[in-house]
Amino acid sequence: MTQHLADRTRPTSEARAPRPTPESGAAPRPPEWWRDAVIYQVYPRSFADGNGDGMGDLAGIRSRLPHLARLGVDAVWLSPFYASPQADAGYDVADYRAIDPMFGDLHDADALIRDAHDLGLRIIVDLVPNHSSDRHEWFQRALREGPGSPLRDRYHFRPGRGSGGELPPNDWESIFGGPAWTRLPEPDGEWYLHLFAPEQPDFNWENPAVRDEFRSVLRFWLDMGVDGFRIDVAHGLVKAPGLPDMGHAGQLRLLGTQVLPFFDQDGVHEIYRAWRQILDEYPNQRIGVAEAWTPNESRTALYVRPDELHQAFNFHYLNTPWDAAELRRVIDSSLDSMRPVGAPTTWVLSNHDVVRHRTRLGGGLARARAATLLMLALPGSAYVYQGEELGLPEVTDLPDEARQDPAFFRRGSGGDGQDGQDGLRDGCRVPIPWTRDGASFGFGGGAGWLPQPAGWGELSVQAQEGDPDSTLELYRSALAVRREQAALGAGDGVEWLEAPEGVLAFRRRGADGSAVLVVANTTEAPVELPAGCAGARLLLASGPCRADGPLPADTTAWWQG
Ligand code: GLC
Repeated sequence: MTQHLADRTRPTSEARAPRPTPESGAAPRPPEWWRDAVIYQVYPRSFADGNGDGMGDLAGIRSRLPHLARLGVDAVWLSPFYASPQADAGYDVADYRAIDPMFGDLHDADALIRDAHDLGLRIIVDLVPNHSSDRHEWFQRALREGPGSPLRDRYHFRPGRGSGGELPPNDWESIFGGPAWTRLPEPDGEWYLHLFAPEQPDFNWENPAVRDEFRSVLRFWLDMGVDGFRIDVAHGLVKAPGLPDMGHAGQLRLLGTQVLPFFDQDGVHEIYRAWRQILDEYPNQRIGVAEAWTPNESRTALYVRPDELHQAFNFHYLNTPWDAAELRRVIDSSLDSMRPVGAPTTWVLSNHDVVRHRTRLGGGLARARAATLLMLALPGSAYVYQGEELGLPEVTDLPDEARQDPAFFRRGSGGDGQDGQDGLRDGCRVPIPWTRDGASFGFGGGAGWLPQPAGWGELSVQAQEGDPDSTLELYRSALAVRREQAALGAGDGVEWLEAPEGVLAFRRRGADGSAVLVVANTTEAPVELPAGCAGARLLLASGPCRADGPLPADTTAWWQG
């Protein structure tokens, strides 16, 4: 059964206080909304363009909130909208307390938060604490003050190695390709660390001013009324003492399989414990969700201990191919890892950094829909990336001139294109179609900042609305059924049922005694249904399917029972 959070006033020990029971006289806790929340990621550049300049903005998002309420999600996560030179599409923040003029201003943010709340939607904003923009005032001042200035200690400045300081301070590689260090021109000559683009210098989290600043930024947005934070590169803030060499190249191939000196260091957890205390000072369960790429699910679980963050994306699941045995293994190990810390598993199939799952899983729309219904039946919370509810594919043929992903331009600078980011992230960031016709299919007045494929009008919200076979209506139904069925949503386990090879079958049980049976056929041929489905009521299927079977290829279905 779901374990609930222990007493949050407790300090950092791993022991959990018993959950108060009605008999103990304690007031019952309100349900924890984030344990089974479905959270929709809006990528502001590409969601809706309110002023017709080709770039999405806050006014556009505001005007489309009813779509999200109608879809049935619980919350909306907005990728960064802060003042930024856009060297990495806004993940290079110049001012954490200001909105970039291309997206609007603080009044627009305020209005957006209010409108969302009026519609029953929570708002989660993206916080980027690993690095700032090189245009951030702190970095600019550190540059001006020169070597030896205490202001340089807010970032990682170092003299170079070699007789003339001409070699980088260590051998770390940037996720976007090339060395993770850039040298300032002589006479300065120091190097600074950037795990991502050179325009994204890493903060030094050993410096107390950095810690103070981010606590203040958290409060700024909590006071604005946001319901939580998605924490960018949550695994990167603390670096191994002394910034030791890795000792070999090709380091980024180890991402997600090993602890690296710049990622997933134990010291990050102290930061999240401090942040949790701030979140808990505010009413209505404000949350933190970690973007943490870790070697395994147990390392991910450390970020969601009871006195740290609430959720952490399960990238191990995202990276699993459409294969029943591998899916079952990762589902089990994810649930097993989260159970001891009492946190929900947070499933995700698509986001702004990875190939859209319709394309990535290799089986077209049918497989994408089946993968979605499988994900939405698993215990815990789930994230949906804008446009996946329309079944959008990855745009794989963007012309080079249109591309903006900084990793694309750095692929030749020392990396071999296989490590770290592939640089092709623009393909999942194409503006989404709202209407059948019109310039940019209703995204905005004119062409969007990335070209949309011809034919996307047929994938638009307008084209799919009301069509029972459409992917939009499938998502709407899935979220509605998930809400109605006590057996779906929160929980920490599944009951596996016997099933033919290539088929996943499990039962979930609700506190009210109800049950839902889930069967996913990952094979390319129809399969007979497991015995438990006989006579059961079919609740929903990802494709055409009869209640008594067989279950077609690449199809997931939910039965009552
Ligand atoms: C995260 C973001 C990604 C960004 C990177 C650097 O991985 O999701 O889009 O490029 O951090 O901020």
